[in-house]
Amino acid sequence: MSRFSRSIAVRRVRADEWPAVRALRMESTSDPDATVAFLERPEEVAARPDEFWIERTRIAAASDSAATFVATLDDHWIGALTVIVRQEGSTDHLGRPVAERRADVVGVYVRRSARGRGAVDQLIATAARWVSAQGLASVTLDVHRDNGRARAAYRRVGFRPTGIVTTSAIGDEIGMELALTPPDSEPDDTSAAGMVPT
Ligand SMILES: CC(C)(COP(=O)(O)OP(=O)(O)OC[C@H]1O[C@@H](n2cnc3c(N)ncnc32)[C@H](O)[C@@H]1OP(=O)(O)O)[C@@H](O)C(=O)NCCC(=O)NCCS
Repeated sequence: MSRFSRSIAVRRVRADEWPAVRALRMESTSDPDATVAFLERPEEVAARPDEFWIERTRIAAASDSAATFVATLDDHWIGALTVIVRQEGSTDHLGRPVAERRADVVGVYVRRSARGRGAVDQLIATAARWVSAQGLASVTLDVHRDNGRARAAYRRVGFRPTGIVTTSAIGDEIGMELALTPPDSEPDDTSAAGMVPT
């Protein structure tokens, strides 16, 4: 079977889907792999008020500063990720100063029952197209040194180590970057197009 299963669809989250965003975040931070994947703990997620999720999802659904994409299978959510456009002079999720406008992928999660089916490839491809449309030439992320599965998936879709390693609250995080082609030169297909390995 192709990695790019036709039955998996990826789309941007809608503002009214904040309860599902919260539920998936609760599930992902409770996952056995969460200790090498997410800075937030489930008890911190549970303590956030509804207003937090409403506002986060509103921005992720319609702004140019962040976008959450969800992967669905038969209309059920099977995974998600968020892209955040960092502005020069701001501080990122690992507390680092941002020297230059860039896009970071965070919160990547595929439900256990759906892993190994290409959802992460489709999520990254969709995120990459959105980042290209924001006028950026690459997208970056940080992945825990011991998260072998995520590292292998990112490498497969074209991410390469930047050489930057940052020690976060959960350990050493390896910086990875995916170079993008401009939107008007992308091939017209549903693969991980728009990505040029560095
Ligand atoms: C990371 C994640 C999104 C990847 O999605 P996925 O559907 O599991 O990924 P895939 O199965 O397509 O690819 C995983 C790759 O890792 C490999 N792999 C599996 N287990 C592995 C391990 N323990 N160590 C190293 N590689 C491993 C697989 O063989 C595959 O590589 P290949 O395509 O070269 O064969 C998903 O596993 C997940 O949600 N994990 C928990 C949360 C998480 O870690 N998020 C990332 C935070 S940076």
